[in-house]
Amino acid sequence: MNIAIIGGSGGIGRTFVEILADRPGVDAIHATYNRTPPPFEHPAVSWHSLDITDEAAIRRWAQNLGELDWLINAVGMLHDPEQGPEKSIRHLDPAFFMQNMSLNALPMFLLARHLQPHFTHGRPAIFATISAKVGSIEDNRLGGWYSYRASKAALNMGLKTLAIEWQRTLPNVTVAALHPGTTDTALSRPFQRHVPPGQLQSPAYTVNALLNVLDNLTPEQTGKFWAFDGEQLPW
Ligand SMILES: NC(=O)c1ccc[n+]([C@@H]2O[C@H](COP(=O)([O-])OP(=O)(O)OC[C@H]3O[C@@H](n4cnc5c(N)ncnc54)[C@H](OP(=O)(O)O)[C@@H]3O)[C@@H](O)[C@H]2O)c1
Repeated sequence: MNIAIIGGSGGIGRTFVEILADRPGVDAIHATYNRTPPPFEHPAVSWHSLDITDEAAIRRWAQNLGELDWLINAVGMLHDPEQGPEKSIRHLDPAFFMQNMSLNALPMFLLARHLQPHFTHGRPAIFATISAKVGSIEDNRLGGWYSYRASKAALNMGLKTLAIEWQRTLPNVTVAALHPGTTDTALSRPFQRHVPPGQLQSPAYTVNALLNVLDNLTPEQTGKFWAFDGEQLPW
């Protein structure tokens, strides 16, 4: 298997790289990082610097890739040093909104556009992006977090739309949105005090659970939103 992991330097992405690198049957992992240098070396892993907001860089990177069996996009943001998710519409900042869109939604569209040729081999394949349950419109009961929720909802719509297109043109590919559950990473750290005791997952727990979901997906299940525990979530 040849696997691409985008955001392999993040809490969840790095753990995907670590666990998959030692998996029998995995030949090569193409892992990307942006500001955090490659966290470790492994003979199966090649690291590439990639700013996912730079479409020309994605195009150049894609040109050097061969066939892909899995792509896992683990890039994302919830806060930056200046700003966190909004509690009220009064806190909405257009620049922060667009930053959420450019890191949580747009990368999947660009990856699909430029990596599509790498999935034409006909073998069952997976194109997955880490979304978040808070991006579910149906499941939104608490409100708040306008920019993050809206960007993950846009991501989800993109994945669903891509699944419909690829059912016609790339029927071997399962397109999936994944909810990891609240996981102990830099992204969730400022919000962990609100997590009920015992519910904060280690990255290893999350990734093993998500791998269990991915291992059991078939192309007939394309275009769905999966939680780490295998539950199918409403869009
Ligand atoms: N942790 C949770 O509880 C939780 C819950 C629900 C959903 N999620 C989702 O899970 C995904 C992974 O989150 P995480 O918790 O692992 O967060 P994280 O540790 O903060 O990792 C974020 C990743 O995004 C990458 N990234 C940021 N800007 C980038 C850019 N311009 N170009 C390329 N890569 C960029 C980072 O790369 P560098 O560090 O190299 O810059 C890093 O690899 C996100 O989509 C997040 O929304 C997480």
